[in-house]
Amino acid sequence: MTAPALPGNPFAPEVLSDPWAFYAACHKAGPAFQLPGTPITYVTGYDAVVDALGRVEEFSNAFGTDLAGARSQDPEVTAILETGWPAVDTMLTADPPVHTRYRKLVNLAFSMKKVDALEDRVRGIVVDLIDAMQRKAARGETVDFVADFAIPLPVAVIASEIGMQGSTDVATVKRWSDAFADRLGQMIGKERELECAREVVEFQRHSKTLIDARRAAPTGDLLSDLVNASIDGETPLDDAEIMSVLQQLMVAGNETTTSTLAGGLLMLIRNPAALQQVRADPSLIPNMVEEMLRLETPTSGMWRVVKKDATIAGVEAKAGTMLMVRYAAANRDPAKFEDPDAFQPDRKNARTHLAFGRGIHMCVGNMLSRKELAVAFQELLARLDGFALAPGAELVWKPNMLLRGLSSLPLTFTARPQERAA
Ligand code: HEM
Repeated sequence: MTAPALPGNPFAPEVLSDPWAFYAACHKAGPAFQLPGTPITYVTGYDAVVDALGRVEEFSNAFGTDLAGARSQDPEVTAILETGWPAVDTMLTADPPVHTRYRKLVNLAFSMKKVDALEDRVRGIVVDLIDAMQRKAARGETVDFVADFAIPLPVAVIASEIGMQGSTDVATVKRWSDAFADRLGQMIGKERELECAREVVEFQRHSKTLIDARRAAPTGDLLSDLVNASIDGETPLDDAEIMSVLQQLMVAGNETTTSTLAGGLLMLIRNPAALQQVRADPSLIPNMVEEMLRLETPTSGMWRVVKKDATIAGVEAKAGTMLMVRYAAANRDPAKFEDPDAFQPDRKNARTHLAFGRGIHMCVGNMLSRKELAVAFQELLARLDGFALAPGAELVWKPNMLLRGLSSLPLTFTARPQERAA
């Protein structure tokens, strides 16, 4: 079958920043497309994306080298990276059986039991951040919800899990995380690429000191588990493997949760009736979080490498080419979600979204980020009121092929009277 024509260039900066009309046009034209002049099959339909994710024998996650792209061959970039540790394919960019080995280990650290045990700590961080936003507003300064809440919350949570709390600050962890995310999105110039390579090495050197410390004296955190674990009697992970796992936890856990928090609050600002509905019935918050994840889908899409000639939704994908599984489009497929662009906190099938992917690579941190998001919105709605964009606020979404999120969200709000404990 001839692939239908794509209704535009999916990677044009203006489409990446505001892709919704483009995705709607894709849904009218077909569930999968050939991207003209490239070896890319672009998959947008919900059922087609689910189908692709289940066919791990044909569609591989070994896209580490493809992602590194042409600039990884640049001698200046390579020279910097060679002063650090080699990149190892662990979870996201590995296939079974290698993937299974790492995944088993990391799953243990992110079980529901472990995540539930973190709830009080998450709530404590959330309340401190809300207090700090209130103090800032009281001083007459503009609160930026992204910088003042949505970035520090997940960074603080993951930094403590990977042993970085106390050994460095939130701004540094965020800077490292951004460097990895920018390299992944490939929308940066040479200077930024060089800077990112330097940051990667700086992150590795810092990780090395933590790894050595945990080897000498485990503390019971996730990093201690990673350093000292040997699964099924296998050799323990070496430094480069541990760094790769840490890096993925740091990057995947930060940018995405930040984007859902900021995008979610913006949805509440723009939908006063939905906000009122959730205020009247806070038990809707967990489902509202699913709906925010569906509509925001911060990991807009992910790559797969086609290992053998295949067809996806009737479109041919030759061995050696790439699939782009477009989670953000699938999550607005009208065949799956009625009135897909509408924000409905009580939507019945919101939780069937693909914002965390599906199958063997489904997000290992999904329970942790769901917890952070639910606690954050519980406390924000209980403590604050009158959310509005600050006068003159400009909303900018950074163009990135894989990750999408608001750069800033200047905000005004009022305090809600708090009940005093008896
Ligand atoms: C709203 C927040 C988040 C979103 C939207 C998100 C999204 C995703 C998606 C779509 C994938 C699948 C990639 C694929 O299909 O190949 C994924 C994988 C992954 N995520 Fe998340 N993520 C979030 C939060 C987190 C957190 C908090 C962590 C860790 C602390 C995390 C760690 C990972 C890791 C390690 C993988 C790779 C898993 C594997 O390949 O087996 N993520 N995430």
